[in-house]
Amino acid sequence: MNARPIMPSITLMGAVDWDRKLFDSLIPLPEGTSYNAYLVRGSEKTALVDTVDPAKLDVLMAQLDTVDHLDYLVAQHAEQDHSGSIPAVLARYPEAILVTNPKAKELLQEHLDIPDDRFRTVADGETLSLGDKTLRFIYLPWVHWPETMGTYIEEDHVLLSCDFLGSHRAQSGVFAERHIVMHGAKRYYAEIMMPFRGFIVKNLDKLTGLQIDMICPSHGPVYKEPAFILDAYREWAGGPPHNKVVIPFISMHGSTLKMVDRLTAALADRGVTVERFDLTTADLGDIAMSLVDAATIVIGTPAVLTGPHPKTIEIAYLAGALRPKTKFVSIIGSFGWGQRIIDVLGGLIAPLKAELLTPVLAKGDPRAADMQAIDALADTIAAKHHEAGLL
Ligand code: FEO
Repeated sequence: MNARPIMPSITLMGAVDWDRKLFDSLIPLPEGTSYNAYLVRGSEKTALVDTVDPAKLDVLMAQLDTVDHLDYLVAQHAEQDHSGSIPAVLARYPEAILVTNPKAKELLQEHLDIPDDRFRTVADGETLSLGDKTLRFIYLPWVHWPETMGTYIEEDHVLLSCDFLGSHRAQSGVFAERHIVMHGAKRYYAEIMMPFRGFIVKNLDKLTGLQIDMICPSHGPVYKEPAFILDAYREWAGGPPHNKVVIPFISMHGSTLKMVDRLTAALADRGVTVERFDLTTADLGDIAMSLVDAATIVIGTPAVLTGPHPKTIEIAYLAGALRPKTKFVSIIGSFGWGQRIIDVLGGLIAPLKAELLTPVLAKGDPRAADMQAIDALADTIAAKHHEAGLL
């Protein structure tokens, strides 16, 4: 893809990665992704903000054929999908100064071995003049690394937002269309940003009062109407959970499935929304998205040897690591002889700090008493949602 102008002073550079299937060798990328770099030309100086994943260095280098001189290379984030091509760009432009914050400098030196004399560090709120354009650096910590920062172009009211507010989406056009980008943006938030909800709310507050006419993230399309993505982040990170139960489950011989079916019907009868994920085929990103606003998680598992099925261990670990705003958790399933299901899964979801509602484990095929216990669990969940003002 060639460089694409956004406005007279700003050009979208970087690469669209249509074919990438996984990020961090973990996160599925059903829509591909992009690594956005932005060239900002002032009347006196020129700055390139971020680079690209080294796998796409040739794309960026070809785009830079139109840039004879580079005064500043700004590193907003030290993760290699944006920083990995910095050494090559610095080698191409020996005059360029690498501008970043002290924490990012430390990480960049650890990962990329960049000489000390190429750096200029900037404080939170510090400005850098390009002549008729001014870059203001705004620390936005923990979205999603400790050193992440944004760059505000004061005269144009444009925020280059780093990973914050982005989406893993490959597309040929520059700008975001709300109805197209929102699904991917929520998935991206769930997978990458959700563990840092508290910092996200603080960073959103920090941006309040700043006139932002356009947001240019490091992944995915540019937002010409920034309000919708800012509002969505505020809701996802700071809003109350919804009247929803997420049930990730697996069943080997049908016993756990009977209990999941019973719970699904019982919750629906009580006015509670249910989203179910059969872990034999479910996509981790879809589950993460569902967790963004779920008030309750119920994991369904049979016993394997003495503990839970390994696929539920993975999902319990993921839920604990992603830290959604879940208020209640429970576990259902069946066992033959081993009874470590609650110990193992309970430990993994402990970081959620959610209230554990009495689990229901059937010995073998669930009997009438087990199903009555499932109905009682549905009663409890509905009552908890009602008390929390969600139902
Ligand atoms: Fe897109 Fe955290 O790198």
